Amino acid sequence: MCGIIGYIGKKEANRILISGLERLEYRGYDSAGVAIIDDNNNNENNDNKINTNKVKGRVENLKCKNIPGMIGIAHTRWATHGRPSDANAHPFVDKTQDFAIVHNGIIENYLELKEELRKEGVSFTSDTDSEVIVHLIARNYSNNIKEAVIKTVKKLQGAYAFCVIKNDKKEIIGARNGSPLIVGVGEEENFLASDVSAVVEYTKKVIYLGDFQIAEVKNDSLNIYDFNGDEKEIEIKTIDWNLELAQKDGYKHFMLKEIFEQPKVIEDTLKVKMDIKKDFSKIIMVACGTASYAGLVGKYLIEKIAKIPVTYEIASEFRYREPLIDENDLVIAISQSGETADTLAAIRLAKEKGAKTLGLINVVDSTIAREVDDVLYTRAGPEIGVASTKAFISQLILIYKLAFKLAGKEFYFDLNKFKETLSLNEKLKELAKKYFLYQNFLYIGRNTSFPLALEGALKLKEISYIHAEAYPAGELKHGPIALVSEDMPTLAICPMDEVYLKTFSNIEEIKARDGKVISIATEGDQKIKEISDDIIYVPKVEEIFYPLLITIPLQLFAYHIADLKECDIDKPRNLAKSVTVE
Ligand code: AGP
Repeated sequence: MCGIIGYIGKKEANRILISGLERLEYRGYDSAGVAIIDDNNNNENNDNKINTNKVKGRVENLKCKNIPGMIGIAHTRWATHGRPSDANAHPFVDKTQDFAIVHNGIIENYLELKEELRKEGVSFTSDTDSEVIVHLIARNYSNNIKEAVIKTVKKLQGAYAFCVIKNDKKEIIGARNGSPLIVGVGEEENFLASDVSAVVEYTKKVIYLGDFQIAEVKNDSLNIYDFNGDEKEIEIKTIDWNLELAQKDGYKHFMLKEIFEQPKVIEDTLKVKMDIKKDFSKIIMVACGTASYAGLVGKYLIEKIAKIPVTYEIASEFRYREPLIDENDLVIAISQSGETADTLAAIRLAKEKGAKTLGLINVVDSTIAREVDDVLYTRAGPEIGVASTKAFISQLILIYKLAFKLAGKEFYFDLNKFKETLSLNEKLKELAKKYFLYQNFLYIGRNTSFPLALEGALKLKEISYIHAEAYPAGELKHGPIALVSEDMPTLAICPMDEVYLKTFSNIEEIKARDGKVISIATEGDQKIKEISDDIIYVPKVEEIFYPLLITIPLQLFAYHIADLKECDIDKPRNLAKSVTVE
């Protein structure tokens, strides 16, 4: 996701736009830019210029250049198409530099639009999808920007929120379909922005644009239309958020916000195009932390679905044990940041040994993304919370897609079951109240529930600082069951899958030793309720898909326990979002 902002009023726009971008940087920060109408040379033939300043890197890099004018738009980028660079930074202008746009979202049909525009003589200055918008508006313009936008949106497929200005017009037009866009209503000044955090220091009065709506914003008036050009009623809301809450969309922590962004992340990641040549005999999954647990789920899934041997490696171990790999192997690096030192080293070692390499990466153009032979980007957007949540689920989605693709099958997942599972939030909040004072936990699971146990235990450890150990459920009797006592509850992941009865027996073994058990089970399973102290039901799905649902209660249980312990959830002690050192 990216951050966009527009300003029209009686103040110099540059400073307002840049400070607004700083409030939006949590939405993306690999490049930034502003475009402002220089209306100081206002004259009868209206040959006002649009001046732009756009750079790779953080918003602060814009501060060294001041651009005059009181009407402007600006953007801070999270790259989806086209590496972070000055050229790929927004805003984009048309060839006459009469129009400028900033865009947040993904134009799915941009390649065909680009082709169509090229045939009309348009030359592109970037590799992005967004640039097609400004050229379409310029092509569709006769004398009214709104009308040109209405014609343009009819050509666009995908999710977008964009703002457009024209050199000789004292207005900003915003359009929304699928990505957020609000209007900030000021005194003789108005704003457009991705969210309220960019405007809350200037005004608390906002209009939340709906999908398929267009805002025509002037400094002393504003109108809302639908995509047919029909005027819509304006509903101004007064927000009572402060800046910090606004950046979290009202959630208490980025982690909770990102947990609830997961449905959108799944939707976006499902659209990732995947062409994979099966020119390898075995796969090695290599990663660290949460990403490695996604890799372990991948081992089970790909072996089960595509019948291809997969080994699972922790990158910091793999890189030093002289692994026996060669050109017949595909090494898959999984990494949210794309900068994790151990994973990067593992990939370099794999390439030295002639293996093919593929990255499942979230940050576009990150170091690992640039060094692997092929990269598939997760569409999680910037993950601010140190504890990985939406990035993990997007890694799983790519892995499911890969497993089904390698098996020559179509992957379909019912997102409604995922959304239904998210509604367990209040239940997990109640459950956390019962368990947040315990100092030790066991997490157990079998088959694909075992990597989930590892992930659930890690979530609890890293944000609540409570000790939690994960084991394959079948391992308990080989030692760990000695730990079971009423002071050490066990979270048992036991959906109705092929190993259900085995895990069920493990729960009974724990109960026989006075251990407390929280079971994560399949809706409707009454039997397991009789042997559990507490139970969280997830919807019934085809058993291969339980990892996608079970992830949610694990995330929410850890979150609410940490919240009750008043931990610094988004920035836990001793941790960093990206471990770029060994
Ligand atoms: C997970 O919640 C942690 N933040 C950590 O384990 C993380 O997954 C690990 O450091 C790998 O990071 P990466 O995905 O950026 O490579």
